[in-house]
Amino acid sequence: MKNILVTGGAGFIGSNFIKYMLNKYNDYRIINLDMLTYAGNLENLSDIYDKNYEFVKADIRDAQTIDNVFRECDIDIVINFAAESHVDRSIEDPQIFLTTNILGTQILLDAAKKYWKIRPDDKYDREYKKNVKYIQVSTDEVYGALGATGMFTETTPLAPNSPYSASKASADMIVRAYHETFGMPINITRCSNNYGPYQFPEKLIPLMINNCKNNKQLPVYGDGMQIRDWLHVSDHCSAIDTVLHKGKIGEIYNIGGNNEKANIEIVKLIINTLRKSDNLIKYVQDRPGHDRRYAIDNTKITTELGWKPSYTFEEGIKETIDWYLNNSEWFENVTSGSYLSYYNMMYNINC
Ligand SMILES: NC(=O)c1ccc[n+]([C@@H]2O[C@H](COP(=O)([O-])OP(=O)(O)OC[C@H]3O[C@@H](n4cnc5c(N)ncnc54)[C@H](O)[C@@H]3O)[C@@H](O)[C@H]2O)c1
Repeated sequence: MKNILVTGGAGFIGSNFIKYMLNKYNDYRIINLDMLTYAGNLENLSDIYDKNYEFVKADIRDAQTIDNVFRECDIDIVINFAAESHVDRSIEDPQIFLTTNILGTQILLDAAKKYWKIRPDDKYDREYKKNVKYIQVSTDEVYGALGATGMFTETTPLAPNSPYSASKASADMIVRAYHETFGMPINITRCSNNYGPYQFPEKLIPLMINNCKNNKQLPVYGDGMQIRDWLHVSDHCSAIDTVLHKGKIGEIYNIGGNNEKANIEIVKLIINTLRKSDNLIKYVQDRPGHDRRYAIDNTKITTELGWKPSYTFEEGIKETIDWYLNNSEWFENVTSGSYLSYYNMMYNINC
């Protein structure tokens, strides 16, 4: 039995990942460490009744607690999802993005280095720490923006444009430095935009579904022609699983599904699926520094590790829209804020 520390496991991708892993394996114990910010929702995990799952409410910036968790839970693997993740919020208030996304990452790395007794020379050992690994879940946004052509490869220079993407790029650099300097066994994954169940409705797809359902205006930044490369969250989870088991130590892997869509295309697809009118669309002033286009070249992970996405965008988006329409209670609890009391109710603790 190996112990995986999943940080940020009450968020969108982390909660999907925990369920994916518990469904697939019975020889991993998952310790979900999450501080439960506004984006952390334990209701995402309320259907887990697995003895191999535990929840710890903690902040990745709290070095003492992180050390204790490593020791008490005998952590073998870290998968760091915990982050402030919303670009708009990073423009309003950058500082928490720097402390959580950069300092938090360094604190996790330090605990891993201490507990796993990592030595610089380990890097040259052929049996190199096969039993432990740190995975940093990063984003394609660290590469900045593309013009009309081209794709991001793992060697594209980092050129982040928002405080969010700058904090994620900085964290990637720290992870890389811990590998180069101390011999930390790491992988970095850089994924494109995810969609699927349990996404906090400040993000494009659940926001548009919710507003559309309630006949509310659909705010679209600028001309809506910003292009993103969309991947179903379960394909992101299978890619991280692949990197965990097959990824070569020290390597970065881009993850994407070759599904480039303009934001306005997605909005219109949601409107059509819900049989509403384009009149709901309201074009609003563009976000400052808004990247025009992202596109991921996934050749490395597909050819070297044999990963490929299982969803087509058409299947995935249909299933996702259905999920949000069929889970209106989850949606209402999130939008009303009552999900915040779930922790108190379940654990009888004031947070
Ligand atoms: N959503 C995407 O499309 C996407 C794409 C590529 C990469 N990523 C990356 O994947 C990761 C997860 O993204 P998401 O969309 O699930 O984000 P999310 O905002 O839904 O979840 C983040 C989680 O981290 C927790 N958290 C925040 N600060 C914390 C702290 N200091 N200590 C402990 N927990 C803390 C929150 O409570 C929340 O549960 C992030 O690192 C993000 O940068 C996301």
